[in-house]
Amino acid sequence: MLEIKAIDVFRGEAQILWNLQMKVEKGEVVTVLGANGAGKTTLVESILGIHHPKKGEILFMDEEISQKPPYLITQMGISCVPEGRRIFKEMTVYENLEMGAYPAKARPLLKTTQDWVFSLFPILKERRNQIAGTLSGGEQQMLAIGRALMSRPMLLLLDELSLGLSPKITKGIYGTIRKLHQEGVTMLLIEQNATMALLHSQRGYILETGRIALQGSSQELLGNEHIRKAYLGM
Ligand SMILES: Nc1ncnc2c1ncn2[C@@H]1O[C@H](COP(=O)(O)OP(=O)(O)OP(=O)(O)O)[C@@H](O)[C@H]1O
Ligand SMILES: [Mg+2]
Repeated sequence: MLEIKAIDVFRGEAQILWNLQMKVEKGEVVTVLGANGAGKTTLVESILGIHHPKKGEILFMDEEISQKPPYLITQMGISCVPEGRRIFKEMTVYENLEMGAYPAKARPLLKTTQDWVFSLFPILKERRNQIAGTLSGGEQQMLAIGRALMSRPMLLLLDELSLGLSPKITKGIYGTIRKLHQEGVTMLLIEQNATMALLHSQRGYILETGRIALQGSSQELLGNEHIRKAYLGM
């Protein structure tokens, strides 16, 4: 579904991603682990068309997208739960969800998709008229996921899902990730919380200073000595 072919990405003068290669197949959940500053968000934003690689290609459904603008990429079926959530804090829960359904394909399905999101997160239904900025951190993250789902994405990118959330809330959110996987949603989990991400994915990549340092099945990576020390704190 997604194939990244040897991209180099710069921000200003600085090269952030180096010859990066990666693949996500339809129906897979794939993890990208990396420390602060490794280039995880830059990778997400490159897939979304916010940064354009100087070299290499990004193929989505066999189409080269790396030079396309973000709105076209969203219309093609890629959606994102951004780092820090970035919900519209002044708007209600319902209005946030509505904003997520802006691609033309998603608009006629708004009601059905909203019911699906409410079934995944019943608390959002209860709070649909609440101003989003007054939700708890966990509820805001649920709303950010819900908003991303409203565009009916084929591929969902999740940038630091568990950041700032308690272990209990994180567990709940990952329960929903599992459900979404069972429903066939393809996902790329960008995380520092290595254990949760690897437990909920099939494969993973380790990003170190903008380069893929290691890749393998999530099970292999969970058992890897270097990863246990660097990312699992063991
Ligand atoms: N606007 C910018 N101009 C130049 N360099 C930038 C810019 N924004 C970020 N960087 C640099 O790009 C590198 C990668 O940043 P990025 O945000 O992609 O990392 P990250 O892995 O998402 O980190 P974190 O875990 O802190 O979110 C960092 O060294 C950062 O300083
Ligand atoms: Mg980041």
